[in-house]
Parts: sequence; C-alpha cells; structure tokens
Amino acid sequence: MHQKMYLRAVVLFLLTWIAAAAYQPQKQLKSAKASGSSVIFPVSGNVYPKGYYHVTINVGQPPKPYFLDIDTGSDLTWLQCDAPCTKCTPAPHSLYKPKRNLIMCQDPLCASLHGPGIHDCHASQEQCDYEVDYADHGSSLGVLVKDSFPLKFTNGSVVAPLLAFGCGYNQEVPDSAHLPYVDGVLGLGIGKSSILAQLRDMGLTRNIVGHCLSGKGGGFLFFGDDFLPKSGIVWKPILSQSKYYSLGPADLQFGGQATNVKGLPIVFDSGSTYTYFSSQAYKGLVSLIKGDLNGKQLKDAVEDRSLPVCWKGAKPFKSIRDVVNYFKPLVLNFTNAKNIHLQLRPESYLIVTEHGNVCLGILDGGEVGLGNINVIGDISLQDRLVIYDNERQQIGWAPANCDRLPNTDGDICLPYAANDGMLEQVWHASFGFWRRQGRK
Ligand SMILES: *[C@@H]1O[C@H](CO)[C@@H](O)[C@H](O)[C@H]1NC(C)=O
Ligand SMILES: *[C@@H]1O[C@H](CO)[C@@H](O)[C@H](O)[C@H]1NC(C)=O
Repeated sequence: MHQKMYLRAVVLFLLTWIAAAAYQPQKQLKSAKASGSSVIFPVSGNVYPKGYYHVTINVGQPPKPYFLDIDTGSDLTWLQCDAPCTKCTPAPHSLYKPKRNLIMCQDPLCASLHGPGIHDCHASQEQCDYEVDYADHGSSLGVLVKDSFPLKFTNGSVVAPLLAFGCGYNQEVPDSAHLPYVDGVLGLGIGKSSILAQLRDMGLTRNIVGHCLSGKGGGFLFFGDDFLPKSGIVWKPILSQSKYYSLGPADLQFGGQATNVKGLPIVFDSGSTYTYFSSQAYKGLVSLIKGDLNGKQLKDAVEDRSLPVCWKGAKPFKSIRDVVNYFKPLVLNFTNAKNIHLQLRPESYLIVTEHGNVCLGILDGGEVGLGNINVIGDISLQDRLVIYDNERQQIGWAPANCDRLPNTDGDICLPYAANDGMLEQVWHASFGFWRRQGRK
C-alpha cells in the first residue's frame, strides 16, 4: 500500500487512553531558577514531495553533522551506525562510528527505555540493546551509546553534554523507494530516554520542544522555553499516562457544522507526514467531502496514485491556492475542554501533486494498524507554532509564520493568533488569512 511509508512515528505498543484524566489543572514549574537556556535549529524538508522534515545535529568529538528526521511520536534518538552495520539505508552522511562509549544494561536509561518487566539485565557488563518499531512497520535495532552533542544555546554558550542515543545497525524499512534521506531519527516524545529529557535532567534546558513547519518547506525547531510567545497560544493538557502526545477526544466539524464523526482520540506526531483518522472516522470524512464536492468541477483522479483519494480539475492545478475554494475547513473540537479546537484549513489536509491533481492528506489509519487513534501529522501541523510542554504536560498551538527564524527575544510572528481557538471565526478567518498571505 502506498500510504504506508509515510507514517514514520508512533511506536505501537501499549496505547493507554485515560480520557477521564484528561482535563487536569496546570502544574507549576518545579523551579523557576533551574530553567537553563534554549537551542534553536533550522528545519529542512516538506510534506510533499519529500514527506519529512529534518534538522542537522552535530555529534561526537570532533563533531560531525547528521540529518535527523523530527519525530515527536517516539522517544529514542538514533543514528545509522557502523557497529558494523548489518542493514543500513542510503544516507546523506557516513555512518556514525561508535567508540568505546557503550551504555551498559544496568544504566537507568536502559531500564526506562525497556520498561518495567521487559528489562532483562543479568551481568553488569552487558550492553544495552534496543529495538524501536514504528507504526509504518519500519524498525531500528542496535545498542545504546553515549557521545557529545555540541549545542549552541541562546545565551551564547556552547555546551557539549554527553547524551545517550541509539547506534542502529539494523534498520527495517517499509518501502525503500520512499525512504526519508536521513542519517537517523530525532526522538522528541514523552519518554525519559529522549535527549530532551536528558538535557532537562542535566539542568541545561526545560523539557519543552516546539516546531514551526512551513508549508513552503523548511521552518525551525527549538528546545527550551525562550521562544514561547506570551500570548496567542491555545493550550491543551496532555492525557496523563499516555506514551504519546495525546489529546482528545475531539469531535469533527465540517464547514462549521457538527458531524457524526465524534470522540476521536488525538495524537500529535511530527514523524507522520500525513494525518490519519481511524477507519470509521475516515469513511465519514471522505463521504462528507465527496458529498460536498458534488456538482463542483472536481472529478475523481484514480490514475493519480500519489495518495488514495485524488481529484482533478478542468486543467492541472499549480498549487494549493488553486483548490482551497473547493474545500471546506475542518475543525477538531475537543470535547473535554472548553472552547479548544484545532482548525484544519484545506491547506492543512490537502496536497497538490506533481500531476496537478489535489489529494486528500488524511489517510485511513485502520489500514496501517493504528486502530482507534487519530494521528495529526505534518500536513496538519504546518504553518503553526506547535509546542510540546513536558514541564506542564500540555500542548499548545497557534498559527505562525514559519518562514523566518525567531530572534532571540522569542519573537515568533503569530498572525491571527487569536483566531486559532475561536470557532466562530473559522470561515472568515481562515480564508481571509490565507488570501492575505497568498497575495503578497
Ligand atoms: C547558558 O546556558 C547553558 C545551558 O543552560 C548553561 O550551561 C550555561 O552555563 C549558560 N551560560 C551562561 C553564560 O549563563
Ligand atoms: C464543541 O464541544 C463542546 C464540548 O462538547 C460543546 O459544548 C460545543 O458546543 C462544541 N462546539 C460546537 C460548535 O459544536
């Protein structure tokens, strides 16, 4: 199946949904002093045609650059590694060469990676093996190692902490024709093994990660709290005891109207190119869209295999701008929180392919084994600032201009910030905003 290769993230074990616990009061930060500083990285990539966004991270002494796929759906960062490599995929840089820097199995990080009960550590000299399995049926197998990550902080200092990550010598890939061209994965999930949690434990930065992925390609990623806008962000608590950045449940609205697609558990996942709805929700959505296109000039384009559902116009479309007026905005209305919504304008759920057709960028998660969960992928995270705040266990978002790196005052441009969370203005705000951008 064509769509399988786009879903990189969300490690598929133990999905715990505790909806009742979802709406919790905000916790105060433990200490305002131990805040540390922030790091910002320029991002490259796009949703289509590349299918992924990556950052360049330097590792080792002397430091060497590696391209890492940004994945908020999994915890462990890993590099393809010459340990030697049994199975590695083509990569932009030469394989990472481990030195004598193995992490042993009694290390707490190894235990936290494996989880209680699964951890099997007999002799103290045993290495710490890992295996990550992704929802797209890809995987990485290897050993945990430690090396220095020189990071330039916003306060001007360069610090090179020793961080644990995976040295992956056996990678299984779902579809070798559509592989991300990267050296590894930057795991930014909730777990203790993420490099963000390690930086937090060292007091170097807060456990907060944010990304701004531009619809034109590129963008930026940051660790820490220096770039948080003071207002304009819609915050939603992360479900407690979830292994992912889980929000929800949410009801779907189509063109400002309630639908019978309700109670969708939501996960934010930058490692997924497209958005996935559970099978029933997906079928509901496709029939709503198709019903709405009835009588409009779009025809099915079954010959375009870019994605499962595509349409063609009277003549080929050049960009998403040519099609937005055919489609209505979607809104995910979170039911356990007052007035919190995620708006999905047509730009957030459609792509225009190289064949000039428009395709639905929301796919059937049931077909790839996601079950009941609904994954919000890059396509729907574009052109907004998305902040995963593991200190306060909340996720925030707001529309943003991701084409420009913020300056060090944390001044991220938030056009129309006030409207992202206000349902009443969906129609006008979304189209109005878009036109203004398009006409520049
Ligand atoms: C800058 O921030 C880093 C990371 O938090 C810290 O280690 C370093 O001491 C800070 N430097 C200065 C000059 O404050
Ligand atoms: C969104 O969900 C909330 C909570 O269920 C509900 O009160 C509200 O009416 C919904 N908004 C719309 C416009 O349907």
